[in-house]
Order: sequence, then C-alpha cells, then structure tokens
Amino acid sequence: MSLLKLCNVSKIYNQGENRIFALDNVSMEIENGEFTAIVGKSGSGKSTLLNILGCLDTPDRGEYYLNGRSVEHLSENELSRIRNSTIGFVFQSFNLIPTLTAFENVELPLKYRGISKNERKCLALSALEEVGLSERARHNPSQLSGGQQQRVAIARAIASQPPLILADEPTGNLDTKSENDVIRILKRLNQSGRTVVVITHGKKLARVADRRITISDGRITH
Ligand SMILES: Nc1ncnc2c1ncn2[C@@H]1O[C@H](COP(=O)(O)OP(=O)(O)O)[C@@H](O)[C@H]1O
Ligand SMILES: [Mg+2]
Repeated sequence: MSLLKLCNVSKIYNQGENRIFALDNVSMEIENGEFTAIVGKSGSGKSTLLNILGCLDTPDRGEYYLNGRSVEHLSENELSRIRNSTIGFVFQSFNLIPTLTAFENVELPLKYRGISKNERKCLALSALEEVGLSERARHNPSQLSGGQQQRVAIARAIASQPPLILADEPTGNLDTKSENDVIRILKRLNQSGRTVVVITHGKKLARVADRRITISDGRITH
C-alpha cells in the first residue's frame, strides 16, 4: 500500500469568469521511504499539490488516500490530528516565532500535542542536535543566519518524529552553503526512514531525490 495516493485529483479556483485548474486530474503514488522532488515553473500547481498531500487543503474532485485512508470525509479536527501525528512541514520562509528561542520554537508544537515537559525537552534537544544546532538552543531567530533558522524549522518539523516530511522550497531563500546543509539534513532524514517530499527550483536538491515529478499547468508531465 502506498503512503500517499492521489486519484484524479483536481483543485479549481474561480477568478471572476475564469476557472483555474491549479491541479488538473492528477494521479500519483508515493511509497513509504521514498525521497521525491516536485519540480515545475512558478504557478504550475506545486504548492497546491503539497498542501493537499499535507491535508492543509482538500481536493475539489478526485480522491486522496493517506496511509490507505481517504481524507474526503474527515472533519477539520481529524485532519489536524493526522497532520500533527504524521507530517512535519518545512516552508521557504522558516516561519519561526521571533520572540521565542530556537529551543522554544521547536518545543511549541510538542506543547500543543500535550507532551510532558520532560519529554518535550528531550525531543526538542535531540531534534536540535540532529540538525547540528545544540549550541544555538538559547538563541532567538534574529541571532541566527537564514540557514540556521531553516535548520531550526526542520528541527521543529521532526521533533515529534513524524514519518513524513513535506517541504515547500526549503532552500529557496538560502545561500549555497546553507542550501548544502539543508540538502544533507533532508537526505539523512530520508536515510533514517522518513518519507520526504520537497518542492524545489534547485537542481541540487532535485538531484538528491530518488524520484522527480514535474508538473506543468496543474498536470503531471513526467
Ligand atoms: N488561493 C488561491 N486562489 C486563487 N488562485 C490560486 C490560489 N492558490 C493558487 N492559485 C492559483 O493556482 C495556480 C497554482 O498555484 P501554486 O500551487 O501556488 O503554484 P506553484 O507553487 O507551482 O507556484 C496558480 O495559477 C495560482 O495563481
Ligand atoms: Mg509554490
């Protein structure tokens, strides 16, 4: 059974008279343990696809199965529970809370999940260690470079040890060295058993993936 399976999924936006098929009859499967890169021009539907895979959005047509289970009739609460237990998200713009330290940023989603203080500390510190930032735990985002902030965001995504990592252009705002750091971390996460799906414009990141899916005008072209 595939971890992720889309069957004839469309997502349609209405803009005045025009209907835009952000996704147009997309079918695809991703297996457990795969590292997949989604590539394509700006506006081609990549983020829409990732948002559906991450249960942040739902298809207008077609079916999405996560772990063999259709998400179609799930309530907002159930979707949120699935997101929290299954998926770690990483975005291009880090989305850290500026007034919290690196440690507190990583710890916050664990707090929302009701995990005890001791366990939170253990999980958050080990996630920061995994991205090589143990020494920076007490720093605020403004005291960190862009690359370090993205590594904190990755630590936050992996702290609860989700089996699936979804990243929307995670290296889009980074210099070459930080880009390489982030690529290395994502590759290592995949090698330790996580399924990773990244959207990227970067050739290097696309190259380390096992598989590349290209979309154009809402359709998978290869
Ligand atoms: N909330 C929205 N409302 C209207 N149109 C949208 C919305 N989100 C995305 N779109 C349109 O859907 C298409 C795909 O967008 P998106 O998935 O963000 O592409 P990409 O991530 O590849 O740049 C674009 O034409 C975009 O303008
Ligand atoms: Mg996008």
